[in-house]
Amino acid sequence: MDPYRDMAVRLAPYGQEHLLDWWSELDPAQKHALLKELQALDWDRIAPLLGGDAAGSEEARERAARAQPPLDLVRLPEHGGDAEEWARAREYGETLLKDGKVGAILVAGGQGTRLGFDHPKGMFKIGPVSGKPLFQLFCEQLAGRERRAGQRLPYYIMTSSATHEETRRYFQEQHYFGLDVDDVSFFQQGALPAVDRAGRILLDEKTKLTASPDGHGGLLHALRRSGLLTVMADRGIEYLYYHQVDNPAAIVCDPAFIGLHALHGSEMSTKVVAKSSAAERMGAVVSVDGRTEIIEYSDLPAERAAAKGPNGELLLWAGNTAMHVFNHAFLERLVVEGCRLPLHRAFKSVPHIDETGERVTPAEPNAYKFEQFIFDALPLALGALVVEADRQREFLPVKNRDGADSPDTVRAGLLKLYREWLTHAGAEVSPQARVEISPRFALDAAELAEKVPSGTRFNRDRVLE
Ligand code: UD1
Repeated sequence: MDPYRDMAVRLAPYGQEHLLDWWSELDPAQKHALLKELQALDWDRIAPLLGGDAAGSEEARERAARAQPPLDLVRLPEHGGDAEEWARAREYGETLLKDGKVGAILVAGGQGTRLGFDHPKGMFKIGPVSGKPLFQLFCEQLAGRERRAGQRLPYYIMTSSATHEETRRYFQEQHYFGLDVDDVSFFQQGALPAVDRAGRILLDEKTKLTASPDGHGGLLHALRRSGLLTVMADRGIEYLYYHQVDNPAAIVCDPAFIGLHALHGSEMSTKVVAKSSAAERMGAVVSVDGRTEIIEYSDLPAERAAAKGPNGELLLWAGNTAMHVFNHAFLERLVVEGCRLPLHRAFKSVPHIDETGERVTPAEPNAYKFEQFIFDALPLALGALVVEADRQREFLPVKNRDGADSPDTVRAGLLKLYREWLTHAGAEVSPQARVEISPRFALDAAELAEKVPSGTRFNRDRVLE
């Protein structure tokens, strides 16, 4: 069989024969490389991209018009939630941790581009005194949590082609920041090609398709490919705490959150904080026709985002912190059923080779890039609980080089938090002293109070290790 003819026949139904335009110029090794790329494409997954069948913003806007605040919501005790329920949930979550039923997923496929940092974002140094990178702060939290639970907690880290090698090397060099190497797994998300207005996949080179990470919703596909769900099941993991690489204040494997999720019989739960303004770039956790879902900020029309509720505050107030808990069985069900999360598309400038074979870098957007969002699994869950979080305590994401959500605001937020914990413990911190608390030393104010005697004075910068 002629491999060229064979592939041309496969591409024809999708209108992608142009991908073979340069065939006659290629040497045998190049032909082999191109065929390998094309054979590796999951056409079932790609096909919807070609017909412009991505999650239409039109449809999202229409749903946004009907969106209401989340229904199945547990509020913080200080906002009217039931303090006893929180205490019971914390205790239950701690039992689940002790029993080895919990693991953590970190999505770390993104680079620090917006920060002007040309490496995996997790390598960005954020510790306000120590300069520890994001990855280290998370690993130290897990280590602290393991110590308290008397149980090992596996960490599953999703990378992308842009971050995989460097992340792995970094963890190796840093001796996994003290975690057991057997407890840290890296798995790589997939990529999707960019497609022009006419639905034609763009070539990056004559032998290579354009490719960009498939979004954190690529988690499902990546879990399937890596076989990790089975590894988790063999270990007895029933719950997975999920978080993003950009928020050092996330309470990794938070017992109260996991406990609430489990006690409510939820399949997927999500933590929210009140948005600081209508324009804040946070997804809105809402209910549409009685179902919980998240509408991404880019899909929420400004006037709908600004709508006020009866109390005069934002109606769609609940901002997505991107901290979730999943039942392992729920993820497995989605994977086994071959669930395809909707594709969201963004019109971007994508360098490619044009029909003359010249490489072009368009100044204006020319093609669609596609991403899946893991939070689109929420409406598929039988039981989707929304849990309110304390913004000052748990949501300090580093997103921008300057201004809001920048390294400066995050470091200041962490120092403020540690100062509060120390003051609560009865310590005195002089105004100019900056004190950082390693999660290995104390995970929260209560643990700190057991370790720092009342009356201790801090006059200089310190890291409590
Ligand atoms: C994200 C959320 C937003 C939420 C906000 C909270 C999305 C689409 N939006 O916005 O609703 O309110 O965080 O801080 O998630 N990532 C991958 N692979 C990818 C793409 C992203 O692993 O292909 C990871 C990144 O490494 C990062 C996280 O997902 O950890 C968030 O990605 P980013 O695109 O920065 O989301 P935001 O726009 O900040």
